[in-house]
Parts: sequence; structure tokens; C-alpha cells
Amino acid sequence: TGLDLSQDMVAQAQQHHGHLERVHFVAGDLHDAPLPPNSADHVVAINVVYFWNPLLPALNAIRKLLRPGGQLCLGLRDRNSMATLPVFRHGFLTYNGPDLQQALKTAGFVDVRQQIIPEQSINVMGQVMHKTGLVITALNPEVKP
Ligand SMILES: C[S@@+](CC[C@H](N)C(=O)[O-])C[C@H]1O[C@@H](n2cnc3c(N)ncnc32)[C@H](O)[C@@H]1O
Repeated sequence: TGLDLSQDMVAQAQQHHGHLERVHFVAGDLHDAPLPPNSADHVVAINVVYFWNPLLPALNAIRKLLRPGGQLCLGLRDRNSMATLPVFRHGFLTYNGPDLQQALKTAGFVDVRQQIIPEQSINVMGQVMHKTGLVITALNPEVKP
């Protein structure tokens, strides 16, 4: 199941992947997702965490979607990678890694783990962007408090 705020993104995803078995896409806001609570074994969000401002309500919304014991996987680039991109001056949130891990623990996730993935530098509109990827995983506790 793919969820996106943007109708355009959902239409694109549907066009490219909608024919696959057991794959479907829905438009909606994570904070009020049109999906059943406790239904997800895994939630994967790649390059989305920057949009969640403030962060905590989004993490709470993910915990609501995950079944007990379900796993969240966040993929992102770290703050240094993003600092040079002009678009990131416009209200996006960036993370070093430990700060996001702490936020996940504060939201009630457990077994928070981080992998650092160095990437090749790229040229974005004339600016060299040094990139470091982070993959952070965390579990929704088996027994909810
Ligand atoms: C930078 S794109 C990442 C897309 C893809 N995962 C990738 O890595 O190429 C971020 C996406 O998150 C979606 N998004 C941001 N906030 C959202 C929210 N609260 N609920 C649902 N989707 C959201 C945006 O509409 C956008 O399509």
C-alpha cells in the first residue's frame, strides 16, 4: 500500500505499478490516513521525514498504523547533505541521525537502529552535494502502554 498526500503522485504510482498484484495506492495525509489502525506490518518512508513538521504527530500517526511489533524504516539524507540545497531553507526539517533516533524513542518506538550509507557526491544545479544516507529502523512495542 502506497500513501501520498499528492493526488498527482498517487496517479503516477498507479500508472507505473498499479497493474501489480496486491499493490495499491491511496491519496491521503499520514496524520489522518485512510487506512485501518494496527494494520501495517512495516511502514517505509524514504525522503519523507523532512516534510513532517512538527515531527512527533507524524511518528504518533505511524505508530497508530503499525501493528504491535511492526517495524518502521526511515530513509533520509543527513543534515550536512541537505544544508547546501536552497529548497531546504523553506521549512523542511533535517536530521543528523541521533536526533531522529531520540525522537523515535520519545514517540514510544523501541529497538531504534541506524545505518550510515555514504553515497557519491553529485552536482545539483552547479552545486556539489556531498551525500550521506541514513537508514533508521524502529519497532512499535509488542505491548502498547
Ligand atoms: C521527496 S518525496 C519522496 C518520494 C519517494 N519516496 C522518493 O524517495 O523518491 C516526499 C513525498 O512525501 C509526500 N508527503 C509529505 N508529507 C506527507 C504526509 N503528511 N502524508 C502523506 N504524504 C506526504 C509528498 O507528497 C511527496 O510525494
